[in-house]
Amino acid sequence: MKTSIPPLSPPSSLAKLFNRLRLLVPSLLLLIAAILLLLLLLRSDPPHFISSVNSNPSHPTRPPLSSIVPDHDHPAPAFNRSPPGPPKPNLSLFVHEMDDPELLRAVSKPPYNAHRVPDGAVPKVAFMFLTRNALPLAPLWEKFFEGHRGLYSIYVHSHLTNNNLVRSKQSVFHGRIIPSKVVKWGRVNMIEAERRLLASALLDTLNQRFVLLSDSCIPLFNFSTIYSYLINSTKSSYIEVYDSRGKTGRGRFRPILKPLITIRQWRKGSQWFEVDRYIATRVVSDRTYFPAFQRSCKRKACYADEHYLPTFANIKFRERNAGRSLTWVDWTKGGAHPGRFVRPSVTPKFLEKMRFGSECEYNGKKSHVCYLFARKFTSHALERLLWFAPKVMRFDD
Ligand SMILES: *[C@@H]1O[C@H](CO)[C@@H](O)[C@H](O)[C@H]1NC(C)=O
Ligand SMILES: *[C@@H]1O[C@H](CO)[C@@H](O)[C@H](O)[C@H]1NC(C)=O
Ligand SMILES: *[C@@H]1O[C@H](CO)[C@@H](O)[C@H](O)[C@H]1NC(C)=O
Repeated sequence: MKTSIPPLSPPSSLAKLFNRLRLLVPSLLLLIAAILLLLLLLRSDPPHFISSVNSNPSHPTRPPLSSIVPDHDHPAPAFNRSPPGPPKPNLSLFVHEMDDPELLRAVSKPPYNAHRVPDGAVPKVAFMFLTRNALPLAPLWEKFFEGHRGLYSIYVHSHLTNNNLVRSKQSVFHGRIIPSKVVKWGRVNMIEAERRLLASALLDTLNQRFVLLSDSCIPLFNFSTIYSYLINSTKSSYIEVYDSRGKTGRGRFRPILKPLITIRQWRKGSQWFEVDRYIATRVVSDRTYFPAFQRSCKRKACYADEHYLPTFANIKFRERNAGRSLTWVDWTKGGAHPGRFVRPSVTPKFLEKMRFGSECEYNGKKSHVCYLFARKFTSHALERLLWFAPKVMRFDD
């Protein structure tokens, strides 16, 4: 028997451990119970704790905190007409309160469908921000717009109603939200949002040029330069259009679009466009091509934001379109998303490269000013952008 058990056999050491644990466990449990009790005492306010046995109806239980505190991660639909549920949004934060059918009907009629600004009136540029849930570069844009009231209008598609910025009356973004719906990357609802922005901006008959921007876009020049570039442009639109034979070009063509659109008419281009009033009205009143895109991208991501406008422009107004985008972006890193620029990459040299480092045609002449905006910049780049803006971009001349 002695020889059958080795001196330091695993069962015997396990048994020892078990013995120790048997002593330890009750004391540990007691300690945990004491901590829990302490936490419970600290959390409940004393009066409530004392009166908990008293079922006095004059002390109604408080609603859960989540129903009072605005939910930033999952905001309620910005435009909710049904009575139960979250409180209605504060309409003074909105440009208008029309839903999509009302809005599209309104802008299809005079005076909104007119292409020219009324005689003698000063034309405006509509800056349309298609954002997710924040405007991290807003301080730069505030500086950009400073001193130019009357020459621009701002529209924001987002669920920003809880955001302090749009609530502040001092902000240029105050009262500029449009009734918005959820937008998913690559889905056709991205185009719906773009049309909603265009239609909302058409409600102001002084708006003559319309530029789509994201929450990561920055201006590359000061307001006066961008304003005259757009207002004086002989081209109706800056929509990038190219034919790509690869998987992410022609490969995304759906045969269901035939015979309305053929694969030879199918085009690709950047989502970030700039159009004049004539093209804007044609886009919002398109009842042929857009519905076809909607039907062809019902269930899957179809990247309509990269194909609908380029294809529409290629078929309908090729001559009026410049064929290039005014928004600089870095695709050199490859993949489905362009390069992002953080703090150290923002240098005067880099800004100058984006401002003058390309060659293109502007009003029939060769030009080095091909991009007026750039993306993608994060909030980490803001400090340096604010620092360089006056010197490099000439914001305060
Ligand atoms: C709506 O917002 C404006 C400006 O932020 C504020 O003055 C007004 O009191 C708000 N109205 C309601 C009903 O909350
Ligand atoms: C457009 O160009 C003309 C002629 O070059 C100039 O006189 C005018 O001021 C420009 N308009 C804007 C808005 O910059
Ligand atoms: C804007 O920038 C241009 C150079 O791009 C400069 O000539 C002009 O004075 C600036 N205008 C204002 C109002 O700052």
